Amino acid sequence: MEKVFQALEQEFQKVLETIQQIRDLDSVKTSFLGKKGKLTSMMKQLKDLSNEERAEVGKKINRLKTAFQEKLDSKRVTLKKSEFNKRMEKEWIDITIDPMAEETGSMHPISIMQQRLEDIFVAMGFEVLDGPHIETEFYNFEALNIPEHHPARDMHDTFYFEDGHLLRTQTSPIQIRGMEKLDPPFRIVGPGKVFRCERTDASHDSVFHQFEGMMVDKNISVANLIYFLKTMLGEVFESEVEVRLRPGYFPFVEPGFELDMRCLLCAGEGCKFCKQVGWIELLGCGMVHPNVLRAGNVDPEKYSGFAFGMGIDRLAMLKYDISDIRPLHGGNLNFARVFSIK
Ligand code: PHE
Repeated sequence: MEKVFQALEQEFQKVLETIQQIRDLDSVKTSFLGKKGKLTSMMKQLKDLSNEERAEVGKKINRLKTAFQEKLDSKRVTLKKSEFNKRMEKEWIDITIDPMAEETGSMHPISIMQQRLEDIFVAMGFEVLDGPHIETEFYNFEALNIPEHHPARDMHDTFYFEDGHLLRTQTSPIQIRGMEKLDPPFRIVGPGKVFRCERTDASHDSVFHQFEGMMVDKNISVANLIYFLKTMLGEVFESEVEVRLRPGYFPFVEPGFELDMRCLLCAGEGCKFCKQVGWIELLGCGMVHPNVLRAGNVDPEKYSGFAFGMGIDRLAMLKYDISDIRPLHGGNLNFARVFSIK
């Protein structure tokens, strides 16, 4: 009889060890302690024993019953713990990570500068126009007084398509599109990407951004041009600025100028920022050439105008003290984020 008990205990132990999940514990309980379980059927056999034996074996069975129940209970606790630990392992979250941090976007410094410029000019009565990146030779060159064999076309190393279209090399085609759309007097600005087949270095890239401006009215003069550009620069750099005009050649303006701004860092003394010159070269501008007005169906006898074009990238670099254009176009979000607070 003793052997039967030992075998049963061993069997119980083995079965219990194979159990991995709490829900399987019930079937173990049923098969050993249930109504038709192994211990219960042993109890039923007690009636065949003598009184003495019955008392002894009965006690033994009862002890086993308690022992099995205790083991089942403690196995339940162990399994509960390990299931909890497994869940913790699988489902943990790091509550030190700010859940919003990855969600929040920020503006790129070029976009910040472009919107700032748009706001400044809109406040001065200008309308913001757009133009296509893929242009015709007419809009990018001819209508801008740059005929086919004009040397100015060599100034732009242009990306041409096989069908004769091209990627615009400047935002100046927006001048022509503006004149086609609007009757004078008008004031327009046109921001956007431009493309030149250029080698990339710290200050050049094959894709960059320009901001075009044009004002056409009666009696527009260089004085108006200086006023608007100086006001714009004062707003961008948030300080009083001094500007100067140097002669500059662009076929679509006459006279044409390069506009410089007195270096804000050294006030003209000469420093690393302005390359010891005291002045910073900023943009091209001038009085709209009569041929250009004619190409836009504006009568040059009645109207005159000024136009300017500047690099948004360059302005952003000056404002935010960025010495290399490449990270501006590099798509590294960490770079852009630094400027979102400015
Ligand atoms: N389009 C010229 C450039 O790309 C800039 C410019 C615009 C100059 C308008 C004069 C007038 O360099």
